[in-house]
Amino acid sequence: MNGIAGARGERIATAARSDTGATGLRTRMVGRFGRDDAGARATVVGWVHRRRDLGGLIFLDLRDRSGLLQVSLGPEWTDPESMVRAHRLGSEDVISVTGEVVLRPRTARNPEIATGEIEVQAARLEVLNRAATPEIPVYRSSADELPDEELRLRHRHLDLRREELQENLALRHSLILAARNYFDALGFLEIETPILTKTTPEGARDYLVPSRVHPGEFYALPQSPQIYKQLLMTAGYDRYFQIARCFRDEDLRADRQPEFTQIDVEASFVEPRDIIGWIEGLMTVLAGVAGIRAARPFPTLAHAEAMDRFGSDRPDLRWGLEIADWTGPLGTLDFPVLRRALEGGGRIRGLRVEGGNRLSRKQLGACDRAARRAGAPGLLWAKRSGEGGSGPLSRWLGEGEWSATGARPGDLLLLAAGPDGMTSPALAAVRSAVIREMVLPPEREYAWLWVLDFPLFEETDGALSPGHHPFVLPHPDDLDRLAEAPLGVRGLAYDLVYNGSELGSGSIRIHRPELQRRVLRILGMGEEEIDRRFAFLLEALGSGAPPHGGIGLGLDRIVKDFIGAGSLRDVIAFPKTTAARALFEGAPTPLSGRELEELGLEVRAAGRRGPG
Ligand code: AMO
Repeated sequence: MNGIAGARGERIATAARSDTGATGLRTRMVGRFGRDDAGARATVVGWVHRRRDLGGLIFLDLRDRSGLLQVSLGPEWTDPESMVRAHRLGSEDVISVTGEVVLRPRTARNPEIATGEIEVQAARLEVLNRAATPEIPVYRSSADELPDEELRLRHRHLDLRREELQENLALRHSLILAARNYFDALGFLEIETPILTKTTPEGARDYLVPSRVHPGEFYALPQSPQIYKQLLMTAGYDRYFQIARCFRDEDLRADRQPEFTQIDVEASFVEPRDIIGWIEGLMTVLAGVAGIRAARPFPTLAHAEAMDRFGSDRPDLRWGLEIADWTGPLGTLDFPVLRRALEGGGRIRGLRVEGGNRLSRKQLGACDRAARRAGAPGLLWAKRSGEGGSGPLSRWLGEGEWSATGARPGDLLLLAAGPDGMTSPALAAVRSAVIREMVLPPEREYAWLWVLDFPLFEETDGALSPGHHPFVLPHPDDLDRLAEAPLGVRGLAYDLVYNGSELGSGSIRIHRPELQRRVLRILGMGEEEIDRRFAFLLEALGSGAPPHGGIGLGLDRIVKDFIGAGSLRDVIAFPKTTAARALFEGAPTPLSGRELEELGLEVRAAGRRGPG
């Protein structure tokens, strides 16, 4: 076992490899010894990973971030006090050993680990610190035997000793370093922006911080540095980036944390293709660090087309399986569900699943549940066999209908009928369920994609909200529709998608104050609210803001998706749970009466929410 092991480990340990880890207390890190060191005297330090007591002889696996090293103690070469100490050692005690590096006898060599041919014969052993019995074992590998995640998060300091997490965080470090170097070479400046700030609209709730000096007033933690990077463009900084911490109070999922990191980028006098070109270059570099392929240029899909063909604005293009529109061929059938959908102005859309006949009732049930969870009243299906077909829809289908859908014997049709707003998410969910249930092999391993021209606005409960955020420049071809048909207006926006995951999102911004004010008004804001929230931005835009644009990339997601980790918690040193709690350090916590008083705050009965 090699500490930072395997091909990826080799790459990400580059920096560490150029330094042996020598300090005043040790000769090197334990993983930096090999057969060439046989005969050398060395002092090694680390954690007792395992102790084997064979009567007269004691073997220790000594561990640090670089790997494992065997230490042997025996009366012939170890002093008596050290032998006594070694007998008493427990897991995770921190020790120092001085002795000679020797080649192990041939039969005792371990080809599994880098230091497997040698051991240190301890002349002397010192205990640098004792460890309480660890609440969770410190595993080096084998994810399936891990204790439950909540327990691991409670004892994160121990879980962080696990090789997998150490590798993940080392890769994260290497990606950040590569990103910094990449932007530096292109003349981008890294500039820090405030954490105590004013609300930044990115569609989530703000985390708020009460001001002690100004009782009753609050800072907001930034949802992103969006406004500040635009202010930097108006100030002429031309090219900015930042490895920026963002905070969002939103419902958490495996790909969302309340506190996360963006690679945040902005540049002046640019078009979408400039940003897209730079980011493709960046992703090629980062993918290279992680051992992933990224062939440029990445394909693009307009948002409308992505929704039409895949029902999603972040389709996973590792699989084909496209949604088809069968309103024409199936629209004339006298099937009540279809008829009603068409009368309501909807479409009949669906998936032709090659060989899908083999899906069992149970598997079809899983697809149906996926559709319902995504908001469809249900899923229609028909299996085509040699003699005809089966399923609720099949008896309505004649040769003409079957062939119009392209279904051959052995295929399965899965249909949803209604408005696109319902059928798109439903069929996207069904598409994923089919891929999962049939264990369809991906057609390619890495699927990069840009989704372009997102709608500038969305409608929720009759009110308009920004598709991304309110600063996206309307598509120049759609400007004349801004007043009458805002929902049809596209933004000059682009999202980066990798294997179905949204890695980043960006746009060209509005740089003229009049247009910005107009868009804010369309979003339902009055002049008073606009001035209260955005006067400083409008003032800056009015001071000679250049045309500008940029992007924010989710660093945590990049690391997670490159590794194929199940959750962002696997790539963040101290993550929050899905209930937004920090279990190890214990946050959030209630405040004492005195602290509240100092902040001019009063807390209502716990569990009761304030208005709105
Ligand atoms: P957006 O809100 O789309 O855009 O965020 C950009 C990227 O950040 C990541 N991300 C998250 N990662 C982890 N946890 C979260 N809660 C979370 N929320 C977002 C995603 C996402 O694609 N200011 C704009 C960017 C711009 O226009 O320049 C912004 O923040 O990978």
